[in-house]
Amino acid sequence: MQGKASSAPLLEVTNLHRRYPVGKGRVLHAVSGVSFTVRRGEALALVGESGCGKSTLGRLLIALDRPDEGEVRFDGQVISGRSDRSLRAVRPRMQMVFQDSLSSFNPRRRVGDALLEPLKIHGRSYDSSTLERLLVQVGLPPDIVGRFPKTFSGGQRQRLNIARALVLQPELLVADEPVSALDVSLQAQIINVFHDLRAELGLSCVFISHDLSVVRQMADRVAVMYLGRIVELGETLSLMKHPAHPYTRALLESIPRLHHPLPDALQGDVPSPVDVPQGCPFHTRCPSVQSRCAHERPVLRPVEGGRDVACHYPV
Ligand SMILES: Nc1ncnc2c1ncn2[C@@H]1O[C@H](COP(=O)(O)OP(=O)(O)OP(=O)(O)O)[C@@H](O)[C@H]1O
Ligand code: SF4
Ligand SMILES: [Mg+2]
Repeated sequence: MQGKASSAPLLEVTNLHRRYPVGKGRVLHAVSGVSFTVRRGEALALVGESGCGKSTLGRLLIALDRPDEGEVRFDGQVISGRSDRSLRAVRPRMQMVFQDSLSSFNPRRRVGDALLEPLKIHGRSYDSSTLERLLVQVGLPPDIVGRFPKTFSGGQRQRLNIARALVLQPELLVADEPVSALDVSLQAQIINVFHDLRAELGLSCVFISHDLSVVRQMADRVAVMYLGRIVELGETLSLMKHPAHPYTRALLESIPRLHHPLPDALQGDVPSPVDVPQGCPFHTRCPSVQSRCAHERPVLRPVEGGRDVACHYPV
């Protein structure tokens, strides 16, 4: 796919857990034992249904939140569980793009000033070409710098969000549903912005999405999540063509545009992350369930075809 990924991991995530106390001694397991790496220049997607822990994991990745267990390393150094103060030097190197965070642009501030603000805060030098270069990178005309946030359309706003994430020249972007608020033609434009940025700047990206058809266009590899766990991880095209986990198959079934001769569309509701089913967490909905699945938890392990799968009976 896009970008040339080298072998040294920029991001290494090991056995990450995030639990939320929800009263009466009960605990919600938002992220449970997640491990993966992201190489330099690589784009990894996190996909799964609403509530499976994508955003929680995204925040853990760039130390906006602390894990209860496990570790995140960025460029070799542990960033999880550290104080804000000790993270000050590394923070600019990793940035987040939200679905539509225009609300975090001050409505009374011209966007040019807002975009330069992170440079001022971090004492970085800039000149008149800095803004122009940034706007060109995200496909916005330079003459917009004097405008106020509310005068922009949805697509332009998302370009502004991306511009703001790029101003400190990060190496890693975590983008949480970066196109899901946009209609399909605007989605395609923003997806192209990300492609260009990766090719130009060698950025590593983690894209969070519930939409596999978007992920297909954006990511080199995909991690499929279910109830806080990664159930399948592999190269995007191979995973989409030959899903090995019954949950991945079911998710793919739910994309009408992709032809898939599988009868296993997703049935029923996701169980509560407070009462995660024993054994395989997917066994209550799995069309391939066997008796063993209800009491023996499958671990993520390599299967044929360079894929990692957490299932006793991968396809
Ligand atoms: N601060 C919190 N306190 C308690 N529970 C939380 C908190 N934040 C998230 N959760 C719960 O953790 C689980 C994972 O939430 P998360 O927002 O990470 O899911 P998601 O995959 O991003 O969902 P969506 O696709 O809807 O954005 C959900 O059950 C959610 O209700
Ligand atoms: S372990 Fe069993 S229940 Fe879980 S996904 Fe595999 S076949 Fe389905
Ligand atoms: Mg989310």
